[in-house]
Amino acid sequence: MEDKGIPKEQIYQMLRKYKEKDLTHRSGRILGSMCTCPHPVGVKAYAMFLESNLGDPGLFPGTKALEDEVITMLGQLLGKEDVYGHIITGGTEANLMAMRAARNLKNVENPEIIVPKSAHFSFKKAADMLCLDLKMAELDDDYRMDISSVEDLICDNTVAIVGVAGTTELGKIDPIEDLSRICQEQDIHLHVDAAFGGYIIPFLKESGYDLPEFDFKLPGVSSITIDPHKMGLAPIPTGGILFRERKHLEAMAIETPYLTEDLQSTVVGTRTGAATAATWALLKHLGREGYREVATSCMDVTHKLEEGIKEAGFELVTEPELNIVPFRSPEITVEELAQRLEDKGWAVSLATYPRSIRVIVMPHLKAEHINDFLKDLETITGD
Ligand SMILES: Cc1ncc(COP(=O)(O)O)c(C=O)c1O
Repeated sequence: MEDKGIPKEQIYQMLRKYKEKDLTHRSGRILGSMCTCPHPVGVKAYAMFLESNLGDPGLFPGTKALEDEVITMLGQLLGKEDVYGHIITGGTEANLMAMRAARNLKNVENPEIIVPKSAHFSFKKAADMLCLDLKMAELDDDYRMDISSVEDLICDNTVAIVGVAGTTELGKIDPIEDLSRICQEQDIHLHVDAAFGGYIIPFLKESGYDLPEFDFKLPGVSSITIDPHKMGLAPIPTGGILFRERKHLEAMAIETPYLTEDLQSTVVGTRTGAATAATWALLKHLGREGYREVATSCMDVTHKLEEGIKEAGFELVTEPELNIVPFRSPEITVEELAQRLEDKGWAVSLATYPRSIRVIVMPHLKAEHINDFLKDLETITGD
């Protein structure tokens, strides 16, 4: 660090040099990310609330009111208006909070959680931090959580079962209805990780897509992760955790002696209010109609990509349920295919099971980007 400060114009110039090295979503070249260009209304709202700290909500009652309204709106979206939760940094923190609540409420000596093999790696982090034994349930032929495998793994120490609505790699929706029944019968916390699916499944269902129930309408569901910074178009970092009952937040409340609130249930202390303001602004600005439009446009592009991939002689590893298209080549390995695509300037991502290239058709991917991608794909194996 220099002793003498640098004039601001020079600083901005220096920053631009760094920024030029970054990819942008707008370029349409990022094919493997669950994030996207933040919506300008969310960006403006975010900037308006940069100073507000929801870790000390008595100082920012306006922002706290926004958070309460956001939680109610997300609850309405997910089948239950009176839910309890917070806007936090993302899916990882939300899943960590859900596992912590479940563990604290059950209070057994060697707590275990059951997740599908397709679960996001955040559950490994949660298990490590919370000293939970992580049991992985098998997947069925369609890469969804296998219910008989779950039943085999349940024991007296099971504090939570996790189902995923929109898996990270393939966009699959686990059989949450069956999990709900089992968890209700056996009094086990059912957490639904809808970090990705939470902002798209309800809107596709409203638009006539035949997708299964996954939310609080199912009585066994105790908590849901839903990330505004994925399909919700909010700036990073914006995640959401919702609980069915107040007791879930209370089970992890810690006394906060020097702050304007007495108890705090979140993992982080100082917590931006900007993410909450952005989420609120976008829910109000886009409304259900706007989000339906986002969801159905992504699916239209998804179908176009799906068809183009098949026509170019590649294989889908599974039919897309949401806006994720996993595919591979019958001729070259997935690693070779990824390399050739990267050489042509595409930022791709690999799924581990089944091994494939996964394209996440986020709102920044438009039909023209997919056309360019398909043109490159058609020539890629003949090289
Ligand atoms: C299903 C699911 N859960 C959780 C996460 C973790 O979210 P974050 O990266 O916002 O912490 C992801 C990230 O892709 C995800 O796909």
